[in-house]
This record gives sequence, C-alpha cells and structure tokens, in this order.
Amino acid sequence: MPLTKSDSIDIALETYSPEKVPTDVLVLGAFPDAKLPPASRKIDEASKGRLSAVIKRGDLDEKAGASLMLYDLPGIEAERVLLVSLGKRDDFNEKAFRDALGSAAKTLSDGAAKDASLALVDIEVPGRSTAWRVQTASRVLADGAYRFDAPGVNAKEKKKRQRGARKVTLLTSEKINDRLKNASNRGQAIAEGMALAKDLGNLPGNVCNPPYLAETARALGKEFKFDVEVLEREDMRKLGMGAALSVGQASAQPCKFIVMNYKGGGKAKPIVLVGKGVTFDTGGISLKPGANMDEMKFDMCGAASAFGAMKTAARLKLPVNLVAIIPAVENMPGGNATRPGDVVTSMSGQTIEILNTDAEGRLALADALTYAERFDPACVIDVATLTGACVIALGNVTSGLFANDDELAEQLLESGEDTGDRAWRLPMFDEYQDQLTSNFADMSNLGGRPAGAITAACFLKRFANKFKWAHLDIAGTNAVSGDAKGATGRPVPLLTEFLIGRVEKRAWGSPGARAA
Ligand code: BES
Ligand code: MN
Ligand code: ZN
Repeated sequence: MPLTKSDSIDIALETYSPEKVPTDVLVLGAFPDAKLPPASRKIDEASKGRLSAVIKRGDLDEKAGASLMLYDLPGIEAERVLLVSLGKRDDFNEKAFRDALGSAAKTLSDGAAKDASLALVDIEVPGRSTAWRVQTASRVLADGAYRFDAPGVNAKEKKKRQRGARKVTLLTSEKINDRLKNASNRGQAIAEGMALAKDLGNLPGNVCNPPYLAETARALGKEFKFDVEVLEREDMRKLGMGAALSVGQASAQPCKFIVMNYKGGGKAKPIVLVGKGVTFDTGGISLKPGANMDEMKFDMCGAASAFGAMKTAARLKLPVNLVAIIPAVENMPGGNATRPGDVVTSMSGQTIEILNTDAEGRLALADALTYAERFDPACVIDVATLTGACVIALGNVTSGLFANDDELAEQLLESGEDTGDRAWRLPMFDEYQDQLTSNFADMSNLGGRPAGAITAACFLKRFANKFKWAHLDIAGTNAVSGDAKGATGRPVPLLTEFLIGRVEKRAWGSPGARAA
C-alpha cells in the first residue's frame, strides 16, 4: 500500500487574551535577560509574578529552545504553561525563533496534553513580517508532530507514539486576515510535503523500491488529480536511456522512470524537478563498505523531496505548472551488473565510461535531464544525494547549490534563507571538466577525490545545456544519523518556497530582493 497520507495535526489561528484561553498547555516565550514579551507579561500579571520569579531565580536557560513546564499557575485558564527560552534578547533571530518553536513542538509531541495554544507568533523577528512568523510557526509545529509509522513497530509502541497534542492554536493580538490564514495553510501544507518525503525516505529499501515509488506517484496523482506516467524498462531502452538503465540492471527490482505532471499554471512553461531515486545504493560492483550502509536507503531522498513538493503544490493549488521526473533504480552488484570500465550511451548520445559504479546517481540523472528537454521547461532543478564530498564541504547544515543561471541560483538561495532550509552555491568552472576526461568515451563518470561535489555537478551540466538549470546536492541534509536517525524532509521547504515565490511577490520583509 503506497503511503500518501500521514496523520497531521490541526493548526488554528485565534485572536485571544492568553490568560483567558482554556487549553492543556499554554506556550509562552521569554528572554532570560530582558523583560517579558507582551503575552508573557499578561500571564505574569494574572499569576501574580510567577513567571518573572522563575526567570529571576535563573531557572530558564539562556539557550533558545530551553524550556520549563510550569503547573498550577493562579489566575489563568490554562492547565500548564510551557515557558520557552528565546535566548539572549540582543541575539534574537530567525534561528532562535525556529529553535524555540521546534523545542515547543517536541515537548508537545511527547507530552500527555491533547491540545495547546502558543503565544509565540507576536514576538518580532528582525526583518520578518507577521505572515512569515505564522507560516514558519505552522510549518515547524506541524513538522515537529511528524512520526514515522514504521512497518515493523508493534502495537504497544505505536500507542506510545500516539501521545502528544493533535490540535495547536496560534494566538495573536493581530486581526486575523486572509494573509495570515494563507500563511498558516502554507506552513501546514509544506509540513505535509515534508512528511511524505520523510515517510518515503524512512521506509526500508525492501519496501520502498522503484515499483513502490511508481505506485506512490500513481496514488498521489489520483488523490490530487494530476497526470502520472511510468515508463518501464523497455520504454527506457527505446528512448536510449543507457546511463540510467546501467544503474539498475543487476537489481531484481525493475527500473521505473516516473513522470508526474501537475498543471495549475495555464500556458506557462513548467518548472521541472528531477529527483534522484536510487532506492538503495550498495555501490554496485564498486561495493561500499559495510558500516552504515543501511543509510543508503536514503539515496532516494531527492526523489522524495520532489514527491513532497508536488504534494504541497497540489494541496495549495499553486498556479504553476510543475513536472517531477524520477529515475527510480536500485544499485546492486550481480552477475549482470555494470563493471568498472563499461561504456554506456546516454539518451543525449554522449558516451560515458563508468569508472566507478558507485558514482551512479549522475548516470540516472543524466538521462532524466535529457528527458526534461521535451517539456520546454522554464527551468529544471535536480535534487540528489549525490556526493559524500558535499557532506565534507558543507556538513549536515547546508545543501550544495550549482546553477548555470544566476537568477535561478539567487531565487533558490533566497528560498533557503526564508525557510532556514539553506543552500550555498559552489562553482562549476570549466577547468574542473578536465577531471572527467576519458580515453574510451566522451567522459568518465568519475572526477577523482578533489572537488568531488563540483565534478559531479560538472558531469550533470553536460546534460543540462538546453535550459536554465540548478542542482541541489543534498547528501548532507536529507537525513540525520545516530540516535535520531531518519529523513529530514529537506529540501521540501526550500523547493516549495521557491514555487510560491515564482507565483507571488511576498512581503516577507526579508533582507533579500523579494521584499515588497
Ligand atoms: N549516494 C552516494 C552519495 C552519498 C554519500 C549520499 C554519503 C549520502 C551520504 C553516491 O551515490 C556515491 O556513492 N557517491 C560517491 C561518488 C564517488 C564514487 C565519485 C561518493 O561520494 O563517494
Ligand atoms: Mn553511489
Ligand atoms: Zn548514490
């Protein structure tokens, strides 16, 4: 059964006096080193100074997101108060705001309270509007309530995981207009797209294989009424997709080439997303070492983010034309696997010597980029867990961005800034192309260790010269390892913000160019 629905929480907006809200938890913000924000001050007055007393004692940590649960405050309707630190007053910024929200979301999703009201969106964030704060809060809270219904989880554990607030009200002193309602809807729809991306990423490789991705696309298309086409191996062969097919040829799972087409934008040229859909990357004959190889189930997170962005765009009925192309393949060793040294012909006609079968993502993407030409795109953005080198360069904080068009790059960078789902641009100077020289084909698929993220992008560039194109290397940002192992849903916030920005001039008041 394809996973297209995950249970989301309900987020509402209300104009209220915080002391009069009957709620299981009232979430309030405070700067440990400065005076209380207005809503918190009201509660302090109503409770005869209980909040200021707590802060005076030094119990609230200075780190944004630190929190204290306070019980039985007199003079207010709320059962409990969750006091969240906003950090130092002078340091307050977007990150501190998101950290405070994220921490509240975590406490709420673990606790016994069934509903909550938050008085955080009135707190001014330098350079950002109320609508921005409402969209951000809605997204972070809905995303914070995400949980993965793993197929292997037993009933008892499931029940435990069902704790947590399912209804959250954002309190504001401002009049609630369409602008704010829209902002909240968008935040929730983005979280919904992230949830789909996380679900697909978190599913194990034996469930989420190429046919499963194809089924998910079909189910999504049915639910949101957009076209879905799935090309089979034979169709791919006829189109000449020798590069993409070479990746999946030793897998028992058939390759699927998935095309989703959402038409909300009339006659406008479509924005095309291309998502790397390697449902498991063993490395192939150039086999990866065993340690942490399980994490290569996340190698379809580029595809997952394209699914997520499609879902958000369709949910919001965005007036854009959006195509998502997913080459879905599994990279396995085997008797008929691609060997190092094999030469394949891509759909573009360019030949490739495969020097390392673990550099497979670029092979799958190359044919998908060529296929994108037929849509006469306004621009093409590929998203891929492409290189370990990108993780070394930018860590788990920032996605790598490459583009053959400055304006497109700027728009993507700004969308990253607006959502905190940031990217950083790296160069694709022609000098790097020399590292891809092959004695036996037009190019090799391997650029060597120096500048590995860049040479991968330079490889893709050779298949993207007919349109405006950007490439996001998300190898460091798509998932986290360790105790909290799991998909992050990135870069769905960046992508969806980009789509919204294409159809609307917003007044985020961001330091960037799009501020009205
Ligand atoms: N899927 C990997 C990249 C990756 C590495 C993603 C770590 C997430 C975390 C990709 O297919 C790969 O194996 N890349 C190789 C390329 C090399 C052989 C040129 C790499 O980065 O080592
Ligand atoms: Mn690989
Ligand atoms: Zn890979």
